[in-house]
Amino acid sequence: PRIAILISGRGSNMQAFIEACAAGHLAADITLVLSNNPDAAGLQRAAEAGIATAVINHRDYASREEFDAALVRQLEEAATDLVILAGFMRILTSVFISAFQGRLLNIHPSLLPKYPGLNTHQRAIDAGDSEAGVTVHFVTEELDGGPPIIQARVPVEAGDTADSLAQRVILLEHKIYPLAANWFIQGRLTLTEEGAYLDGENI
Ligand code: GRF
Repeated sequence: PRIAILISGRGSNMQAFIEACAAGHLAADITLVLSNNPDAAGLQRAAEAGIATAVINHRDYASREEFDAALVRQLEEAATDLVILAGFMRILTSVFISAFQGRLLNIHPSLLPKYPGLNTHQRAIDAGDSEAGVTVHFVTEELDGGPPIIQARVPVEAGDTADSLAQRVILLEHKIYPLAANWFIQGRLTLTEEGAYLDGENI
């Protein structure tokens, strides 16, 4: 199976996928790393790992729909089976989502349904939450709203800042995201109208 990873920034989750493939924990080929941001540090990391990279700059398109159509074309050319959003900071329209629904995953740094959108760790701290975490989910047209697949939790500690909390959470991101992708690759994970199914059970 062929995985494409979409990034906008440093690409530490992308790196975790590269390492999971190398370690044999993810039986797939990462055939493309695609970024909207030509300066994304992750592009360099992907190239160093020998993975094909591409940039489709959203600034070159008049509308979100045209940008999304260009992404779809590139991913279809790469015969992509599974699309991984990994710190991809553009809101996708139905042009993109309908093309890949059911084989499109995202990771969001909160315990969804809490804190969709940005600044999740600061919002958890400001709310006085005793725990924070991260969710891997199928992407549907509702922003950060698709059916969850797996979550990981960490305590919020006294004196935590958004950065210290993010550092605790990202370590778990790197574990659960390749794990969820591997379930998909193994054919164990599907999206139906009732939500996400793992090994035949609604999760
Ligand atoms: C992660 O915190 C992820 O949960 C969020 O964006 C960040 C991406 O980090 N969606 P990286 O580029 O994978 O290092």
